[in-house]
Order: sequence, then C-alpha cells, then structure tokens
Amino acid sequence: MGDLVLETGRLVLRRTRDGDLDLHLRHLNTPEVMDHLGGVKEPHEIEAKFAKAEASFAREGFGFMMVVEKETGDLVGHCGLKRVDNPQAPNPGDMEIGWLIRQDRWRRGYAFEAALAIRDHAFRAFDPPVLVALTSAANVGSWRIMEKLAMERRVDLDFRDPAFSDRDNPTIQYAITRQGWQEAV
Ligand SMILES: CC(C)(COP(=O)(O)OP(=O)(O)OC[C@H]1O[C@@H](n2cnc3c(N)ncnc32)[C@H](O)[C@@H]1OP(=O)(O)O)[C@@H](O)C(=O)NCCC(=O)NCCS
Repeated sequence: MGDLVLETGRLVLRRTRDGDLDLHLRHLNTPEVMDHLGGVKEPHEIEAKFAKAEASFAREGFGFMMVVEKETGDLVGHCGLKRVDNPQAPNPGDMEIGWLIRQDRWRRGYAFEAALAIRDHAFRAFDPPVLVALTSAANVGSWRIMEKLAMERRVDLDFRDPAFSDRDNPTIQYAITRQGWQEAV
C-alpha cells in the first residue's frame, strides 16, 4: 500500500484517499464520537481537516491518518500528528498527537495501539523536543490514553476554548519530552 505510514498488530495507518470523506462522515462524525469535540461538524469542515492533514504531510512529513482494521478492512479511526494551532493555546507549534475511534470499536485497545505507534514514530522520525496532547477532564478515555503513553499532566498549558461547552472546559494538556520518551521506550 503506497500510502501506508504505520502498521501495528491489528491496525494499518494510512494517508487519506478518495472515498474516505463519506466513511469518516458515517462512522466518525457522529454525535457520540464528537461529543467532547464540540459536536458533529459540517462535511466541509471534515474536508478541510483532510486537506490540512495532506498539506501537513507534504510540508512536514506527518499528519492525521485513517486507521484501518486489518481483520475487516474497515475504517475504524482517525489518528495522527499535527501542530498545535488552537488560537487560545499557549504553546502554538508544539507537535500534537490526537485520536478518534468509531464507537462500535471502542474499548478494544485500538486508540492506545494506534497512539503508541504514532508516539514512537513521532520521536524516531521527527525528534521533537516535546509531544503534547489536548483533551478535557471530562473525556476520561482520552486522558487515560495520555497517561498510558507516559505523558505527564501540564497544568501550565491549560486554556479556555469558547468552541467547547463548560463541561469540556478548560482544555487540558499532557506532554512527553524527548528525554521522557527515551526513558519510556
Ligand atoms: C477516547 C477514545 C479515542 C478511546 O478509544 P478506545 O479505542 O476505546 O480506547 P482504548 O480501548 O485504547 O483504551 C485506552 C484506555 O482508556 C480507557 N478508556 C477508554 N475509554 C474510556 C472511557 N470512556 N472511560 C474510562 N476509561 C476509558 C481504557 O479502559 C484503557 O485503559 P486501561 O488499559 O487502563 O483499561 C474513544 O472513546 C473516542 O474516539 N472518543 C471520541 C473522540 C474523542 O473524544 N477523542 C479524543 C479527543 S481529545
């Protein structure tokens, strides 16, 4: 597969292709998956997210990827790397890791499996001084993954985001430094 970026035991992480937008809208842009992320987006917003990921791959060699379940070939998630670009964030430009898994595949360890491969790829291929992840205290599954990645809570990087509800404010951050990663692997 020419667009393959990473492979794990159960998953393939590849760049976006024609046809992914419809699958993303059906399986990932749902009220349940988007519950902590400001709700369901307009199709053009997802299209813009794909374009941003591809531009990031072209410019920097990394981006958000489609997560495919090897056993079925089904699209099960959207995970990857980007630069912190939230205008409210105190650390613009830091390398950021993120994840979405479709609801009928939750609690199978897929998000952590993908995230671990992405974390290690990030440090091996791009050697950033720090890798951060953003979520809210209410999104327990998400910060649990951050803890399992050996990321540490960075209260100093928290910020309020008017795009999110009170339940999902403030945005909280976790981070792992280059040295922290070397100690973790
Ligand atoms: C958050 C999300 C990615 C977790 O995906 P997942 O594949 O179910 O996660 P995993 O199975 O890899 O679980 C990782 C850890 O989190 C825990 N976990 C996952 N969902 C959880 C939840 N809702 N509540 C509490 N713990 C949870 C798991 O038990 C596991 O910890 P453990 O090994 O100590 O048991 C998924 O629920 C999702 O896509 N949510 C919607 C999108 C989203 O909010 N993304 C994050 C944006 S910041």
